[in-house]
Amino acid sequence: MAAVPEIRPRCMIWLGRPSPQEREVLAAAGWDLRVIDDAHGARIGLRGGDRVAALLDLRHGDAEWAASMQALLSPHSDLPLVALDWQDAVPAPDCLLHLHPPLDLAQIQRLARIVDGEPHATGQAGTECLVGGSPAMLGVHASVHKFAPVELPVLVTGETGTGKELAARALHDMSTRHGRPFVAVNCGALPASLVQSELFGHEKGAFTGAIARRIGLFEAADGGTIFLDEIGDLPLDAQTNLLRVLQEGSLERVGSHHPIRIDVRVIAATHVDLEDAVAQGRFREDLFYRLDVLRLHMPPLRERCDDVETLARHFLALFREQHRVRARGFDATARRALRIHPWPGNVRELMNRVRRAAVVCEADLIDAAALQLHEAVHPCTGTEGADGLDHVRVNAEREAVLATLRESGFNVSECARRLRVSRVTVYRLCKKHRLELESLRV
Ligand SMILES: Nc1ncnc2c1ncn2[C@@H]1O[C@H](COP(=O)(O)OP(=O)(O)OP(=O)(O)O)[C@@H](O)[C@H]1O
Ligand SMILES: [Mg+2]
Repeated sequence: MAAVPEIRPRCMIWLGRPSPQEREVLAAAGWDLRVIDDAHGARIGLRGGDRVAALLDLRHGDAEWAASMQALLSPHSDLPLVALDWQDAVPAPDCLLHLHPPLDLAQIQRLARIVDGEPHATGQAGTECLVGGSPAMLGVHASVHKFAPVELPVLVTGETGTGKELAARALHDMSTRHGRPFVAVNCGALPASLVQSELFGHEKGAFTGAIARRIGLFEAADGGTIFLDEIGDLPLDAQTNLLRVLQEGSLERVGSHHPIRIDVRVIAATHVDLEDAVAQGRFREDLFYRLDVLRLHMPPLRERCDDVETLARHFLALFREQHRVRARGFDATARRALRIHPWPGNVRELMNRVRRAAVVCEADLIDAAALQLHEAVHPCTGTEGADGLDHVRVNAEREAVLATLRESGFNVSECARRLRVSRVTVYRLCKKHRLELESLRV
């Protein structure tokens, strides 16, 4: 195993009064916080090696207070200084960055890049790729920051399309293995007869068709991270071999008895309940405990509704990087529809809607109709009446039920579980929206 990585902590010296929410955002982004509210008798001590920034919070104090805080900072002129709420009555000091309250993850990440000095040189994407500042996503960010530098396996759980692979990449990018390979393997897509040789490699002549020696995915990931996606689909015999590799830190290629030492961090993901699979004898219990050391749960989109608009803007920006499209934002009808749509779990549904809308939209701003969230509202008025809004809700509800039914293979119990309603409600909704289960199933 690689040595315990040396990740230098980031520390924020907050001159003023952070709100509980701001404390939470900083913690989620992996910052230590030191608060100095009163310059009298205070001293700024710096621990060697820490990446430190000072934040002058101008919301609460007056000009005199700001001057005393700046005097406190004067022996530390090399410290990156940022100001919060500089537009207030208190004159803004000369500083690197002006931030605006409430401090959110996006602003903190901009600050982190400045404090780190080399914004893109290390390839450390951080948790930036995991868009969203809802309480559920703040929890994810905090766990990723905690887990990334630790040389232990991580089990990422969550429904389809909740960002499990994205989180696995963030864990790798933020570990000291970030310059080394990140090898993603979809265990469910490996042909059963080739699982062993794909994972561990084979020697020439090991089986019919093995015309040359081939290294496996574990060897390819040496020094880095292997991401075992859909681990629940790994056949039992491959599970036994994987367990041995994890226990011994070495593998044997198929057709060889020569152990090869490997140094790979394992991140596994599953959308099925592995505890259930263990209870049913489909997954080895001992392997489960080897993999389930640190657990990262990715919340479904319906539990992070606050993030929908930010995600939509993110997906549009990504799409615009690769395609020439006119749409550069969302109008009021789109934003409202995004907010009220009862999203199921899969983030891809939102992404696909945004992409489709970006292609079909012929205006600068995407409207709700282009997102196919409803058709009845007149986009230009921006003041649809109650009828229009009701229509939006009804359409949105129908689409959400239909999408969830599709994702659940038209299984009513599964659909009810995903929507967090009773089965009776699913039947009622099907009736209300004229969704005929029997004909949809064929
Ligand atoms: N928080 C997020 N920020 C930005 N993009 C996201 C976020 N969550 C999911 N996505 C995007 O949604 C898509 C699905 O994410 P990903 O493939 O990581 O999910 P998954 O849980 O591994 O899905 P599956 O179960 O289908 O394998 C990807 O395009 C990903 O970039
Ligand atoms: Mg995946």
